[in-house]
Formats: sequence, C-alpha cells, structure tokens
Amino acid sequence: MDAMTLLHERSSMGKLTGPPPDAAQREALYRAALRAPDHKELTPWRFIEFSGKGLDRLGELFAEAEYRDDPHSGDDSLNAARKKPHRAPMVIAVIAKVTPDLPKVPPVEQVISAGCAAHGIVLAAHALGLGAMWRSGHYAFHSTVRKGLGLGEHDEIVGFLYLGQLAGRHKPLPERDPADFVERWS
Ligand SMILES: Cc1cc2nc3c(=O)[nH]c(=O)nc-3n(C[C@H](O)[C@H](O)[C@H](O)COP(=O)(O)O)c2cc1C
Repeated sequence: MDAMTLLHERSSMGKLTGPPPDAAQREALYRAALRAPDHKELTPWRFIEFSGKGLDRLGELFAEAEYRDDPHSGDDSLNAARKKPHRAPMVIAVIAKVTPDLPKVPPVEQVISAGCAAHGIVLAAHALGLGAMWRSGHYAFHSTVRKGLGLGEHDEIVGFLYLGQLAGRHKPLPERDPADFVERWS
C-alpha cells in the first residue's frame, strides 16, 4: 500500500480476532509510534501492551473502576467491564508522560505528541493488514485505571488501541470534502 492511499483510506475495525500481531508486526507498530512529532525530543510516550492474561488484568482494573463508581454494580456490569479488553487479542495503552512547567513545551503539546504516536500505530496496523480500533471510554480518565497503570499526576491515557486480525468488513469511508474544513488566506 502506498503512503497516500494509507493516509486517505485508513479505517478502524472494531471486530477483531486472534492471533495478536506477531513480534515483527509489533516492532513495526512501535517504530511507527516512535516517529511521532516531538517538540524538544521529550519522547513523552509510554506503551503498555496487554495480551493473554494481561487482558484479564486490564479487565479487572476496568471492573474495579466500575465498582468504585457504583458499589451496587451487579455481576452483569462488572463482568461486562471485565470482558471489554477481550474485544481484541491485543490492546496497547498509549500514555502521554507529561512533564509540567516546561518553558517551551506545554502539556498539551506532549499529549498531542502521544496522540500522534497512537495514530502512528493505527496507521501502521492498517498498512500491515491488521485491524485497529482506538478507544478511550470513561476508563481512560478513571483514577482507578490511572493508578493501576502507574500514571504520574500529569500523565494522560490518550487511548487504548485494540489490535488484531480483521473479523469484519471495513465500513465505507465517510465522504468528506476538504473545502468544508479549509479556509485559505492568500
Ligand atoms: C482519542 C480517541 C478516543 C476514542 N474513543 C472511542 C471509544 O471509546 N469508542 C469508540 O467507539 N470510538 C472511539 N474513538 C473513535 C474510533 O477510534 C474511530 O475513529 C471512529 O469509530 C471512526 O472510525 P474511523 O477511524 O474508521 O473513521 C476514539 C477516537 C479517538 C481519537
């Protein structure tokens, strides 16, 4: 796939199945992430990769978050939270490691950089013929999940990237016209 086709046609895939990306594919995904634009070369990125029993551990964190929000949560909603990471054979949490009070690189720029790293991963996944879906949900902002994943006070979870083999069809691409988004000063 040529680069422009990838950039114009990347698409998310929520229906994913095993096997998880192999070692060479994972290496390629992370290499794409590490080319994110990065002001002052802070490398403000951290990745946690979940597969196998790791997905169970992430599910337990989600269930704990659910329980803390509502201690009356029934088994159904706790089990639904536990199952969420199992929507894919592999999940990567992309975390912005934010250094506050830097003179030239405010926190927002560091979070954007981590977002670009996440985009690098989903683009690379598409190029490799893998499926990818970037999700946050309220868990990405929940103190229980943040603590469980070892985030620092200023860090942000920019997303959980669900990755695996395609188990469905890509939905049609939306018709968007650049003219609707671009104004030109010339
Ligand atoms: C930061 C971020 C968080 C997102 N969180 C969710 C989410 O929790 N659930 C969801 O269904 N889609 C979420 N999305 C959107 C999907 O990843 C996807 O972009 C959307 O379904 C449109 O599909 P497309 O990427 O094929 O255009 C999120 C996207 C971003 C950038």
